[in-house]
Amino acid sequence: EKKLIKAIEVIKVPEDDVIGVDINGLNLAIYNVEGEIFATDNICTHGNAKLCDGFLDGYKIECPLHQGEFDIRSGKACTSPLTEDIKSYPTKVGDDGFIYISM
Ligand code: FES
Repeated sequence: EKKLIKAIEVIKVPEDDVIGVDINGLNLAIYNVEGEIFATDNICTHGNAKLCDGFLDGYKIECPLHQGEFDIRSGKACTSPLTEDIKSYPTKVGDDGFIYISM
């Protein structure tokens, strides 16, 4: 059963940026695209690199190690050398200004 996990304050994630956070025993990347919040696992499915250290371009995150790109809305692997999608999580922002992640 899915639970809503309280993460961090939305103001901690600058617009058009991504940060890494440890929540509920998971290392997640949290993204802000023009005020829309997305969350995925932070460790690339291809190797030991953190997506929060990558380059966010619209809804695409480029891995810093071999430049594979994921769509952060679905976690879909879009470019080589990626072959495996990354897990993405639904998010919402509460009235208290915190991001909640469904997991
Ligand atoms: Fe991310 Fe290779 S580790 S593309």
